[in-house]
Amino acid sequence: MKSLVTSIIALLFCSVVWGGYLEEDQDVLIPKDWTHSGAVSPTEELELTFALKQQNVDLLEETLRLVSDPDSAQYGKHLSLEEVSFLVRPSALSQKVVHHWLQSHGITNCLTVRTGDFLQCSMTAEVAEKLLPGSKFQRYVRDGQSVVRSSAPYSVHDDVRQHLDFVGGLHRLPPKGQDLTKASSNLHHKHSKASLHLGVTPSILRTRYNLTTADVGSAQNNSQAVAQFLEQYYHSTDLSEFMGLFGRTFPHLTQVDRVVGTQGVGKAGLEASLDVEYIMSTGANIPTWVFTNPGRHETQEPFLEWMVLLSNISDLPWVHTVSYGDDEDSLSTAYMMRINIEFMKAGVRGISLLFASGDSGAGCRHLTKGQNSFRPSFPASSPYVTTVGGTSFKNPFKMSFEVTDYISGGGFSNVFPMPEYQAGAVQSYLQAGAADLPPQSYFNTSGRAYPDIAALSDNYWVVTNMLPIPWVSGTSASTPVVGGVLSLINDQRLLKGLPVLGFLNPRLYKLNGQALFDVTEGCHLSCIDEQVQGRGFCAAPSWDPVTGWGTPNYPALLAALLEK
Ligand SMILES: *[C@@H]1O[C@H](CO)[C@@H](O)[C@H](O)[C@H]1NC(C)=O
Ligand SMILES: *[C@@H]1O[C@H](CO)[C@@H](O)[C@H](O)[C@H]1NC(C)=O
Ligand SMILES: *[C@@H]1O[C@H](CO)[C@@H](O)[C@H](O)[C@H]1NC(C)=O
Ligand SMILES: *[C@@H]1O[C@H](CO)[C@@H](O)[C@H](O)[C@H]1NC(C)=O
Repeated sequence: MKSLVTSIIALLFCSVVWGGYLEEDQDVLIPKDWTHSGAVSPTEELELTFALKQQNVDLLEETLRLVSDPDSAQYGKHLSLEEVSFLVRPSALSQKVVHHWLQSHGITNCLTVRTGDFLQCSMTAEVAEKLLPGSKFQRYVRDGQSVVRSSAPYSVHDDVRQHLDFVGGLHRLPPKGQDLTKASSNLHHKHSKASLHLGVTPSILRTRYNLTTADVGSAQNNSQAVAQFLEQYYHSTDLSEFMGLFGRTFPHLTQVDRVVGTQGVGKAGLEASLDVEYIMSTGANIPTWVFTNPGRHETQEPFLEWMVLLSNISDLPWVHTVSYGDDEDSLSTAYMMRINIEFMKAGVRGISLLFASGDSGAGCRHLTKGQNSFRPSFPASSPYVTTVGGTSFKNPFKMSFEVTDYISGGGFSNVFPMPEYQAGAVQSYLQAGAADLPPQSYFNTSGRAYPDIAALSDNYWVVTNMLPIPWVSGTSASTPVVGGVLSLINDQRLLKGLPVLGFLNPRLYKLNGQALFDVTEGCHLSCIDEQVQGRGFCAAPSWDPVTGWGTPNYPALLAALLEK
């Protein structure tokens, strides 16, 4: 009884005196793989990120629609960072209220960004806990990495609540790196091809996707990027060795153009090596940037820090590929909505953001005893990014046609409604395959459906720590491959004086599958239960929520995307 009364009083106190929660639905449970290593001392310095409410978000969304729709007169009329800033910058009132609130707590050490909509401030843990009632900062460790997060939800004063979207650095933890070696996975029982298969290399990809030796970058001012968030580093010696082994058949660069962030010392990461080696093999000869582990302070969220950086750099590469994702249900709606606005801000600037669709098929969420549903992943489920799924060769020994890679992430968002650009394609899939669909209780047909496109994701060769490693698999592999292909198309567009592709989806869906190899065979994973027995969605002619529209046939895709 006592605890009930206490919590009622606490609730009243929260809403009347404190204000309220900005992220009521944020999962604050610390995953089991992190170990609690004690409370943070009151004098310890924390770095928190304040996401200020932006203005003109509807106008931003409409502008993105116009500049990305090939049938609009505004197509390709991208905005500069200054113009984006002019549009979304928080109102003078919001800025004043938030600054006043921080100052009244003695917080003056803040950095802002060009768009004025993020503030990064340092303060002691004691001050942070007063500023954000409810928060309790603790230290957690995993595999030698240490982070500081709050073990309880935070609230903010009522006066500032309407001027903030969320405060970063309290809850979201870096996700666990994905297991990229499928050979070790017991889920892989389809065929025992491992010992005989030679594996996917740049020349296999270039042949399959019809890239000739001449299909490499040459435009001035074209560039592409990969982003890493898991304390993973690439080694430039691995990249040179990789190109020495696998790059002999096409002109390429052997060095990264620019590293943004801090490359730690120590072993190279498989994921980081994979991303860099493959974006530079399809997007060959195109200057490449690596964003590495932004937000190294213990309270910072690396993915959020990367988003903050994008709002502070005016000249960015045109294509970014990212292999990062969290379950939608572990994140607050406020956070996802705001990050989605950040994606719009990048899109109107002509920047293409590509995300891996994930490696758990449709995913599985246990709701109640015996009741499951699929589990969409964010940012893959954002309507304003291009999401990349995965395929395997039908005949593993030959460069045959592609079928579903059963790990390929895909499904329907429970947060973002279905965008207009895909409504027709998704309806066709749902109607044509009605008899064969998983039960309706497992997914949400009104949500944004993904992926949009795909590429091979199975049995790659990667050089890491000076060793060539086979059997590397996952949509982390297909994403930089598609990124490189888009960069090549941007290259040809820039040579013709055309604007870059920018946010691709509206144009991609209008192609109606033209110029892509349609993937029509195979299903991906989902819940191992009686109802669906491990089967999620299945590939089908045209668009499907396993492989999107399919994989790129470069010369045809170039021709289709080289006008306007
Ligand atoms: C953004 O860039 C400016 C310099 O252009 C810098 O002064 C500022 O600290 C940066 N903001 C953040 C959050 O790093
Ligand atoms: C591209 O590749 C496919 C399959 O490998 C092939 O059938 C086609 O002729 C190639 N060329 C073009 C220009 O599409
Ligand atoms: C594009 O070119 C301009 C002017 O030459 C340069 O300042 C800028 O850094 C380049 N941008 C990229 C992303 O390479
Ligand atoms: C289904 O998705 C819509 C957004 O399209 C959302 O509003 C709704 O809450 C979702 N339903 C469930 C059960 O999550």
